[in-house]
Amino acid sequence: MILSVNGLHKAHGARQVLRGIDATVARGETIALVGPSGGGKSTFLRCLNGLNSYDAGDVEVAGLKLAPHTPPDDPALLPLRARVGMVFQGFHLFPHLTVLDNLCLAPLHVRREAPAEVRARAQGLLDRVGLGDRGGARPAQLSGGQQQRVAIARALCMQPEVLLLDEPTSALDPEMRGEVLAVLRDLSGACTMLVVTHEMAFARGVASRIWVFDEGKLVEDGPPAQVCENPRSERARAFFKDRS
Ligand SMILES: Nc1ncnc2c1ncn2[C@@H]1O[C@H](COP(=O)(O)OP(=O)(O)O)[C@@H](O)[C@H]1O
Ligand SMILES: [Mg+2]
Repeated sequence: MILSVNGLHKAHGARQVLRGIDATVARGETIALVGPSGGGKSTFLRCLNGLNSYDAGDVEVAGLKLAPHTPPDDPALLPLRARVGMVFQGFHLFPHLTVLDNLCLAPLHVRREAPAEVRARAQGLLDRVGLGDRGGARPAQLSGGQQQRVAIARALCMQPEVLLLDEPTSALDPEMRGEVLAVLRDLSGACTMLVVTHEMAFARGVASRIWVFDEGKLVEDGPPAQVCENPRSERARAFFKDRS
C-alpha cells in the first residue's frame, strides 16, 4: 500500500475535524474525495504531507511513517514532501519566474539534480499538459486553466509517488475546468492521486474509488458506481441526491 491510515484524529482547537479515519490506497489508484463542505477533506490531505499536524493515529505515506504533533516546518518532513506533491485550488505559481523555471526550481535547488536533466523532464511535462510552447511565459500571461496545468506539471517535476490535489478546478471558469480534468484523466494510473473534487462526472469516470467525507469521518469508500448509486450511509445518500 502506498498510503495507509489508521485511526487518524485531528482537532482544530476544540473542534474535532477528523474523527478516526481508516483508509488504504494501492499504488496507481485515483481516489476522488467528495462530500459536504467542512467535512474534513482538505484537512485530511494536508495531514498526508505534513502541512497540518495531527493528534493521533498511524499514518504511512510512500514508505514513510509520520508522527503525530509534527510541526509543518519540521525538517523531518522534507523526505515526505519530496515524495508527496500537492496542487492547490489557487495554483500558487511563482509570479516572477517563467513557466519552465517554476517547474525546475525545486528539482534544482531542493534535490540538486543536474540542470540538463531537469530541463528535459520539465519540457516533457509541459508537453504532456499541452503547454510545450509556453515555457518562456510568465504565469500572469496564462489563463487560469493553463496556470493550473503548469502547477500540476510543476508538482510532477519532483517525481512524487503520490499527488494530492485539493479542488484543482474550483477556482476556474467552467470552460477551463475541462482542460484541467483532461490532464488529470491522462495522468490517472501513471501517478497515485488523491483529488478533492466537486466534479462528479470526473469522479465517476476516472476514479478507482470514491471516498465520501462527512463530519470528520470517511462514510463511504468504494468503486464509483457502488458509492454513487448505492451508498450505504444516509449522509452519503443525501449528498448524492442533491447532485443528481
Ligand atoms: N486552520 C483551521 N483552524 C480552525 N478550524 C479549521 C482550520 N482549517 C479547517 N478548520 C475547520 O475544520 C473543519 C474541516 O475543514 P476542511 O478540512 O477544510 O473541510 P473540507 O475541505 O471538507 O471543506 C471545518 O469545520 C473547518 O472550519
Ligand atoms: Mg476543502
